[in-house]
Amino acid sequence: MQDKYLELNRQNWNNRVAGHLRSDFYEMDAFRAGKSSLKEIEIALLGNVEGKSILHLQCHFGQDTLSLARMGAQVTGIDFSDKAIDEAQNLAKELSIDATFICCDVYSTSDHLSEQFDIIYTTYGTIGWLPDLDKWAKVIADRLKPGGQLIFVDFHPVVWMFDDDFKHVAYNYFQESPIVEDVSSSYANKEIQITDTTITWNHGLSEVYQALQKAGLIVNHFSEYPFSPYDCLNDLIEVEPNRFQVKHLVNKIPMVYALTALKA
Ligand SMILES: C[S@@+](CC[C@H](N)C(=O)[O-])C[C@H]1O[C@@H](n2cnc3c(N)ncnc32)[C@H](O)[C@@H]1O
Repeated sequence: MQDKYLELNRQNWNNRVAGHLRSDFYEMDAFRAGKSSLKEIEIALLGNVEGKSILHLQCHFGQDTLSLARMGAQVTGIDFSDKAIDEAQNLAKELSIDATFICCDVYSTSDHLSEQFDIIYTTYGTIGWLPDLDKWAKVIADRLKPGGQLIFVDFHPVVWMFDDDFKHVAYNYFQESPIVEDVSSSYANKEIQITDTTITWNHGLSEVYQALQKAGLIVNHFSEYPFSPYDCLNDLIEVEPNRFQVKHLVNKIPMVYALTALKA
């Protein structure tokens, strides 16, 4: 089963794209009208990206990639979902935004690109789809320019220890085996009906840190947040504008973390 993870996960992501595009979650009308899809955490880490080259890993249908382009960056997005990449290309064309999109698995990025970038950007719902973080970090190190920076924001591994309703600890923090799940819907649109199997991995914080260090990257910022900027999990309440926490766990658990890492 595990060696089929790419095929199963790709099918699942392909099956979500159309429903995501019509979801309230992704606010396509507002996005088309110019609203950025970036959230406060990554905006603060990115600073001024005008003129910078950015590689966006796991870009889905390109909202963040195109938001970065609207801020003046030269952007390339990669994702293994051909449906997501088709939509990203359509959107860039429709909105007359200059952007490059490539359909590939994260691990094969360097087979499709030889350019090195000022920034590699990857956020929210990314490494859980990847079995091997050493390979992930090596791709990042290979594709960053010397002096370039990784900007990484994702859900905290503590979040993935819980069952869907945050009622009990269902998975180990030190989860070595993959998590195989039957999924029937999506975080962004509960009306999506799918019958897919996904294979994901929980990666602890030290695993992320050590993979980056092994690849020669220097972690120069690290922070944890008690909120998610996305209302994408069960039982969340908005404690402040665009800050969501689990109703019965307010301020008790970390929900998101962010780090930046430098290539010397
Ligand atoms: C939760 S979404 C990321 C959403 C992101 N925050 C955004 O900008 O919209 C995860 C993405 O990872 C992609 N993905 C999953 N496994 C992948 C892999 N092995 N290689 C490339 N993309 C992958 C999926 O197709 C999906 O678009």
